[in-house]
Amino acid sequence: MAARRPSSGLSNKLLLLSLLLVCNAITFFVSVTFYSSCPLPDPSVVPEHFDSTEYVSPDLPSEFHAFTSGQALPFGFDSHFDSDTIFPPVGNACTRFPEELTEYMSYYVNGSCPEDELLAQKLLLKGCEPLPRRRCRPPAQTEYPEPIPFPTCQWLTPPDNSVVWTAYRCKNYDCLVNRERRQKDITDDCHDCFNLKGRERVRWTARKSHPGSLDFTIDEVLETKKPGTIRIGLDIGGGVATFAVRMRERNITIVTTSMNLNGPFNSFIASRGVIPFYISISQRLPFFDNTLDIVHSMHVLSNWIPTTLLHFLLFDVYRVLRPGGLFWLDHFFCSGDQLAEVYAPLIESIGFVKLKWVTGMKLDKGPERREMYLSTLLEKPLNNSW
Ligand SMILES: *[C@@H]1O[C@H](CO)[C@@H](O)[C@H](O)[C@H]1NC(C)=O
Ligand SMILES: *[C@@H]1O[C@H](CO)[C@@H](O)[C@H](O)[C@H]1NC(C)=O
Repeated sequence: MAARRPSSGLSNKLLLLSLLLVCNAITFFVSVTFYSSCPLPDPSVVPEHFDSTEYVSPDLPSEFHAFTSGQALPFGFDSHFDSDTIFPPVGNACTRFPEELTEYMSYYVNGSCPEDELLAQKLLLKGCEPLPRRRCRPPAQTEYPEPIPFPTCQWLTPPDNSVVWTAYRCKNYDCLVNRERRQKDITDDCHDCFNLKGRERVRWTARKSHPGSLDFTIDEVLETKKPGTIRIGLDIGGGVATFAVRMRERNITIVTTSMNLNGPFNSFIASRGVIPFYISISQRLPFFDNTLDIVHSMHVLSNWIPTTLLHFLLFDVYRVLRPGGLFWLDHFFCSGDQLAEVYAPLIESIGFVKLKWVTGMKLDKGPERREMYLSTLLEKPLNNSW
């Protein structure tokens, strides 16, 4: 296959003209709140390969098309790609939300991005994941402080001006740290976890758990394997990444996925000197097969997740774990009936070996709800039997 030739000056002009026409049409049809949805394209940033016969849906912003349209590889056909063109990825569901997508992709190219963290996160959580890339610079604090040096940063609340607070109800760390005391009816995830002097301090750190306890300790989990063989892993929905911090003390590198649900979780995790990944539980894990030594998840994988999605997710955890790797499913919760009828069979069907399996009542919302917790330590078999 031959490479596509760069367009001539004439076709560049035609392209600009057609972009302008599309832009005008969009500006006409879409009422945009703060910026025009169509900044004038700068000729230096217009992709050269643009094919004017390509269908351009009039209800989506030009920057969306600029990013996602097929882009010819400058050196032509590549056998690794098996193609001469790249289609940069966005979530399959993005185009189901044309209004939000239009707002999200409305900015001045090479300018500042709007402060739209909340809009972006809603779009992502609904399924527009990954979000499209943008050609603008995100808002940041004007007086961003240097990080607190390691290892002090792990257990110290970072300065308020390390965070852009627009998206959150709290506007500083003092508010977040104390929200457990101030808010009686707490609906926020992890309402006490920004308080590093409270429960976070002691999670998973006991030498041994009590028999039958749902709270396994890190050391007893690591003791199930040869010393030093658990080196790298993932914590799914890991709150403020105390798990990663505790593992780092043991020379184990953990990446923590988290959303920013009414709190600057990702900024906070980064301030503690461990790595935040901003992906939801829906996204395919960005690791290759058979690579991680451990995957942990606490309080997140539960009955709020649609069952089919959970089934795919568990297989994805199985995929990224290396043979002999550990899956520590920590405080999975659901009703007692669901556990017996749906979730226990589902988890057992993936093919892990059970090292520990403990169930117990979840009483924080009252015994009448008959909620159960499951904590389990599972191992990917060393030898696949299928
Ligand atoms: C892009 O923005 C930067 C920073 O504002 C500026 O220095 C640069 O000249 C801009 N480039 C173009 C092509 O407008
Ligand atoms: C972590 O690694 C360092 C450097 O190799 C070593 O000195 C230290 O003892 C290790 N800590 C643990 C808990 O293994």
